[in-house]
Amino acid sequence: MSKIVTPYQNEQVTKKEQVADMFNNISKTYDFLNHFLSLGIDIIWRKKAINELKENQPKLILDVATGTGDFAFEALSILKPEKIIGVDISQGMLDIAQQKITKRGLGDKFEIKLGDSEKLPFSDNQFDAVTVAYGVRNFEHLEKGLADIQRVLKTGGKAVVLEFSKPKAFPVKQLYNFYFNYITPGIGKLFSKDSRAYTYLPESVAAFPDGERFTAMMEKVGFKNTKCRPLAFGICSIYTGIK
Ligand SMILES: C[S@@+](CC[C@H](N)C(=O)[O-])C[C@H]1O[C@@H](n2cnc3c(N)ncnc32)[C@H](O)[C@@H]1O
Repeated sequence: MSKIVTPYQNEQVTKKEQVADMFNNISKTYDFLNHFLSLGIDIIWRKKAINELKENQPKLILDVATGTGDFAFEALSILKPEKIIGVDISQGMLDIAQQKITKRGLGDKFEIKLGDSEKLPFSDNQFDAVTVAYGVRNFEHLEKGLADIQRVLKTGGKAVVLEFSKPKAFPVKQLYNFYFNYITPGIGKLFSKDSRAYTYLPESVAAFPDGERFTAMMEKVGFKNTKCRPLAFGICSIYTGIK
């Protein structure tokens, strides 16, 4: 069995608890570092992923691993659903999301809830769409998380997952590895109070089963018509599947 990559490499504590702790630690600098480290490109990738749902016009959306809410805000602005619910295991990240919801006056449209992707606090067949941005890589049990996302989707509903992947072509692969392994951890350490968080980032991306391995797992838990759309030479990928 392959080694589970965790933020603090502490074998006494589950990956889930370590991930929640890590995001609690970095919640205040998360938004700034996201945009800074990606040179703002993360905003374009989020828009592209949400656009995958345009033809479906979902009314009720679940945003899993919603964090500080940026993917959900993008969905609200592009798709104009009746409601979006965001779940996350980090209260610190959700507190920032709540501040943004209140500031933007979106309390009736965007609701947040503390919750685990592997045990979603919702009944079966509830949502028209489920979204996850940069979350699946952090799940402790990826297959279990995907199966639960499939469970809460309505039949015919669509899941959209945005996640880092591993570019294969020269020189993007080499540049990306250099940036991710050396530049990102340095800047992350400087600005966030957690020196491990931005070292865990490339490690978790390296360990993540991207591309066809991920769509195969989606199919295994019951998704149909799965697709993988690489962005920026494979730095990121958008995965979609239908229940
Ligand atoms: C990199 S952040 C992404 C946040 C947001 N989706 C975005 O696009 O900025 C990953 C988030 O996944 C959450 N997370 C990790 N494992 C989770 C799980 N099992 N259930 C729910 N949320 C989880 C973390 O707490 C964190 O807020």
